Amino acid sequence: DDFQGEDDKGYLYKVLVVGDSGTGKTSYINSFVHGIFSNRYKATIGVDFALKVMNISDDKVVRLQLWDIAAKMKLKFIYKIKIKLGQERYTNMTRVYYNEAVGAFVVFDVTRMDTLENVKKWKNDIDSKTFLPDGSVIPVVLLANKFDLTPEGFGKTDKEMDEFCKEFGFLGWFPTSAKTKLNINECAQFLVNKILEND
Ligand code: GTP
Ligand code: MG
Repeated sequence: DDFQGEDDKGYLYKVLVVGDSGTGKTSYINSFVHGIFSNRYKATIGVDFALKVMNISDDKVVRLQLWDIAAKMKLKFIYKIKIKLGQERYTNMTRVYYNEAVGAFVVFDVTRMDTLENVKKWKNDIDSKTFLPDGSVIPVVLLANKFDLTPEGFGKTDKEMDEFCKEFGFLGWFPTSAKTKLNINECAQFLVNKILEND
Protein backbone atom coordinates (compact mmCIF):
# COMPACT_ATOMS: atom_id res chain seq x y z
CA ASP A 1 0.00 0.00 0.00
CA ASP A 2 1.00 3.66 -0.16
CA PHE A 3 2.32 3.87 3.37
CA GLN A 4 4.55 0.84 2.87
CA GLY A 5 5.94 2.35 -0.33
CA GLU A 6 6.92 5.56 1.40
CA ASP A 7 8.42 3.71 4.30
CA ASP A 8 10.58 1.55 2.03
CA LYS A 9 11.88 4.57 0.19
CA GLY A 10 12.76 6.33 3.41
CA TYR A 11 15.11 3.60 4.52
CA LEU A 12 17.15 3.00 1.38
CA TYR A 13 20.74 3.79 2.23
CA LYS A 14 23.81 3.92 0.03
CA VAL A 15 26.90 2.51 1.74
CA LEU A 16 30.42 2.50 0.24
CA VAL A 17 32.84 -0.40 0.61
CA VAL A 18 36.38 0.75 -0.15
CA GLY A 19 39.94 -0.28 0.63
CA ASP A 20 43.02 -1.67 -1.09
CA SER A 21 42.80 -4.36 -3.74
CA GLY A 22 42.39 -7.89 -2.40
CA THR A 23 41.48 -6.89 1.15
CA GLY A 24 38.12 -8.67 0.87
CA LYS A 25 35.53 -6.02 -0.03
CA THR A 26 33.66 -8.28 -2.46
CA SER A 27 34.05 -11.26 -0.12
CA TYR A 28 32.56 -9.26 2.74
CA ILE A 29 29.54 -8.31 0.61
CA ASN A 30 29.08 -11.85 -0.73
CA SER A 31 29.24 -13.22 2.80
CA PHE A 32 26.90 -10.60 4.27
CA VAL A 33 24.36 -10.43 1.43
CA HIS A 34 24.47 -13.89 -0.15
CA GLY A 35 25.97 -16.04 2.62
CA ILE A 36 28.68 -17.39 0.32
CA PHE A 37 32.49 -17.39 0.38
CA SER A 38 35.12 -18.43 -2.15
CA ASN A 39 38.90 -18.70 -1.72
CA ARG A 40 39.39 -17.80 -5.35
CA TYR A 41 40.36 -14.21 -6.11
CA LYS A 42 38.56 -12.50 -8.95
CA ALA A 43 39.22 -8.75 -9.04
CA THR A 44 36.16 -6.54 -9.24
CA ILE A 45 35.91 -4.53 -12.44
CA GLY A 46 34.72 -1.00 -11.82
CA VAL A 47 31.82 -0.89 -9.39
CA ASP A 48 29.52 -3.67 -8.22
CA PHE A 49 26.25 -3.34 -6.35
CA ALA A 50 24.40 -5.48 -3.88
CA LEU A 51 21.24 -4.94 -1.90
CA LYS A 52 20.83 -6.18 1.66
CA VAL A 53 17.49 -6.01 3.41
CA MET A 54 17.81 -5.71 7.18
CA ASN A 55 14.90 -6.15 9.56
CA ILE A 56 15.67 -3.64 12.27
CA SER A 57 12.41 -4.11 14.18
CA ASP A 58 8.82 -5.27 13.49
CA ASP A 59 7.93 -2.06 11.67
CA LYS A 60 11.34 -0.99 10.40
CA VAL A 61 13.07 -2.44 7.36
CA VAL A 62 16.32 -0.95 6.10
CA ARG A 63 17.64 -1.59 2.59
CA LEU A 64 21.38 -1.17 2.24
CA GLN A 65 22.69 -0.50 -1.24
CA LEU A 66 26.31 -1.59 -1.01
CA TRP A 67 28.73 -0.05 -3.51
CA ASP A 68 31.72 -2.33 -4.02
CA ILE A 69 34.33 -0.02 -5.52
CA ALA A 70 37.38 -1.72 -7.04
CA ALA A 71 40.66 -0.10 -6.11
CA LYS A 72 42.56 -1.34 -9.15
CA MET A 73 40.09 -0.27 -11.80
CA LYS A 74 40.02 3.18 -10.31
CA LEU A 75 43.72 3.58 -11.15
CA LYS A 76 43.16 2.54 -14.78
CA PHE A 77 40.24 4.89 -14.88
CA ILE A 78 42.33 7.77 -13.54
CA TYR A 79 44.89 7.13 -16.25
CA LYS A 80 42.36 7.20 -19.08
CA ILE A 81 40.47 10.23 -17.83
CA LYS A 82 43.68 12.13 -17.09
CA ILE A 83 44.79 11.82 -20.69
CA LYS A 84 41.45 12.88 -22.06
CA LEU A 85 40.19 15.46 -19.64
CA GLY A 86 42.80 16.25 -17.01
CA GLN A 87 43.09 15.87 -13.25
CA GLU A 88 40.15 18.06 -12.33
CA ARG A 89 37.64 16.03 -14.29
CA TYR A 90 38.87 12.80 -12.70
CA THR A 91 38.10 14.20 -9.25
CA ASN A 92 34.56 14.89 -10.34
CA MET A 93 34.17 11.32 -11.60
CA THR A 94 35.07 9.67 -8.27
CA ARG A 95 32.65 12.05 -6.66
CA VAL A 96 29.96 10.24 -8.63
CA TYR A 97 30.79 6.95 -6.90
CA TYR A 98 30.63 8.53 -3.47
CA ASN A 99 27.68 10.80 -4.18
CA GLU A 100 24.83 10.56 -1.65
CA ALA A 101 26.45 7.79 0.39
CA VAL A 102 25.36 7.94 4.03
CA GLY A 103 27.96 5.54 5.42
CA ALA A 104 31.06 3.56 4.50
CA PHE A 105 33.23 0.59 5.34
CA VAL A 106 36.96 0.83 4.83
CA VAL A 107 38.48 -2.64 4.64
CA PHE A 108 42.07 -3.69 5.32
CA ASP A 109 43.76 -7.10 5.30
CA VAL A 110 45.21 -8.12 8.68
CA THR A 111 47.93 -10.13 6.91
CA ARG A 112 49.19 -7.04 5.03
CA MET A 113 49.91 -4.10 7.30
CA ASP A 114 50.47 -1.73 4.35
CA THR A 115 46.74 -1.99 3.72
CA LEU A 116 46.12 -0.62 7.24
CA GLU A 117 48.46 2.29 6.50
CA ASN A 118 46.44 2.99 3.34
CA VAL A 119 43.08 3.20 5.13
CA LYS A 120 44.07 6.76 6.07
CA LYS A 121 44.06 7.66 2.37
CA TRP A 122 40.71 5.99 1.83
CA LYS A 123 39.26 7.85 4.81
CA ASN A 124 40.59 11.18 3.53
CA ASP A 125 39.16 10.44 0.10
CA ILE A 126 35.70 9.81 1.57
CA ASP A 127 35.85 12.82 3.91
CA SER A 128 36.82 15.19 1.11
CA LYS A 129 34.05 14.09 -1.25
CA THR A 130 31.06 12.90 0.74
CA PHE A 131 28.95 14.87 3.15
CA LEU A 132 25.66 14.48 4.96
CA PRO A 133 22.93 17.07 4.21
CA ASP A 134 24.08 19.07 7.27
CA GLY A 135 27.65 19.20 5.92
CA SER A 136 29.21 16.75 8.35
CA VAL A 137 31.30 13.74 7.27
CA ILE A 138 29.60 10.37 6.85
CA PRO A 139 30.08 7.63 9.47
CA VAL A 140 32.90 5.25 8.50
CA VAL A 141 33.61 1.86 10.08
CA LEU A 142 36.98 0.12 9.78
CA LEU A 143 37.04 -3.63 9.04
CA ALA A 144 40.13 -5.66 10.02
CA ASN A 145 39.35 -8.47 7.59
CA LYS A 146 40.77 -12.02 7.20
CA PHE A 147 40.96 -12.27 10.98
CA ASP A 148 40.63 -16.06 10.60
CA LEU A 149 44.21 -16.07 9.26
CA THR A 150 45.67 -14.42 12.39
CA PRO A 151 44.27 -16.33 15.37
CA GLU A 152 47.08 -14.93 17.56
CA GLY A 153 46.20 -11.36 16.59
CA PHE A 154 47.68 -9.12 13.90
CA GLY A 155 50.18 -7.13 15.94
CA LYS A 156 47.89 -4.37 17.19
CA THR A 157 46.16 -4.35 20.56
CA ASP A 158 42.47 -3.45 20.81
CA LYS A 159 43.54 -0.26 22.57
CA GLU A 160 45.89 0.67 19.73
CA MET A 161 43.11 0.08 17.22
CA ASP A 162 40.67 2.16 19.28
CA GLU A 163 43.20 5.00 19.34
CA PHE A 164 43.80 4.65 15.62
CA CYS A 165 40.04 5.00 15.04
CA LYS A 166 39.87 8.05 17.27
CA GLU A 167 42.83 9.71 15.60
CA PHE A 168 41.63 9.18 12.04
CA GLY A 169 37.92 9.65 12.65
CA PHE A 170 36.55 6.13 12.27
CA LEU A 171 33.34 5.42 14.16
CA GLY A 172 34.80 2.11 15.28
CA TRP A 173 36.47 -1.08 14.05
CA PHE A 174 35.68 -4.79 13.92
CA PRO A 175 37.87 -7.82 13.41
CA THR A 176 36.00 -9.57 10.58
CA SER A 177 36.19 -12.70 8.48
CA ALA A 178 34.23 -13.10 5.28
CA LYS A 179 35.18 -16.78 5.53
CA THR A 180 33.97 -17.62 9.06
CA LYS A 181 31.40 -14.76 9.12
CA LEU A 182 32.98 -13.25 12.23
CA ASN A 183 31.24 -9.89 12.93
CA ILE A 184 29.83 -9.79 9.40
CA ASN A 185 26.36 -8.79 10.62
CA GLU A 186 27.52 -6.94 13.73
CA CYS A 187 29.56 -4.34 11.86
CA ALA A 188 26.63 -3.61 9.53
CA GLN A 189 24.24 -3.32 12.45
CA PHE A 190 26.66 -0.89 14.11
CA LEU A 191 26.91 1.31 11.01
CA VAL A 192 23.16 1.24 10.35
CA ASN A 193 22.41 2.31 13.92
CA LYS A 194 24.56 5.39 13.33
CA ILE A 195 22.97 6.05 9.93
CA LEU A 196 19.48 5.87 11.47
CA GLU A 197 20.60 8.29 14.20
CA ASN A 198 21.76 10.76 11.55
CA ASP A 199 18.61 10.45 9.40
P1 GTP B 1 39.37 -6.00 -5.50
O1 GTP B 1 38.06 -6.35 -6.15
O2 GTP B 1 40.54 -6.32 -6.36
O3 GTP B 1 39.43 -4.58 -5.02
O4 GTP B 1 39.56 -6.98 -4.20
P2 GTP B 1 38.55 -7.21 -2.98
O5 GTP B 1 38.84 -6.25 -1.90
O6 GTP B 1 37.15 -7.25 -3.48
O7 GTP B 1 38.99 -8.66 -2.44
P3 GTP B 1 38.20 -10.04 -2.60
O8 GTP B 1 36.94 -10.03 -1.83
O9 GTP B 1 38.13 -10.40 -4.02
O10 GTP B 1 39.21 -11.04 -1.81
C1 GTP B 1 40.54 -11.22 -2.19
C2 GTP B 1 41.04 -12.58 -1.75
O11 GTP B 1 41.03 -12.67 -0.32
C3 GTP B 1 40.17 -13.76 -2.24
O12 GTP B 1 41.02 -14.83 -2.59
C4 GTP B 1 39.32 -14.12 -1.02
O13 GTP B 1 38.98 -15.49 -0.99
C5 GTP B 1 40.26 -13.77 0.13
N1 GTP B 1 39.52 -13.36 1.35
C6 GTP B 1 38.64 -12.34 1.45
N2 GTP B 1 38.16 -12.24 2.70
C7 GTP B 1 38.74 -13.24 3.41
C8 GTP B 1 38.66 -13.66 4.78
O14 GTP B 1 37.95 -13.10 5.62
N3 GTP B 1 39.42 -14.73 5.15
C9 GTP B 1 40.24 -15.37 4.26
N4 GTP B 1 40.94 -16.41 4.72
N5 GTP B 1 40.36 -15.00 2.98
C10 GTP B 1 39.62 -13.95 2.56
MG1 MG C 1 36.34 -6.93 -5.32
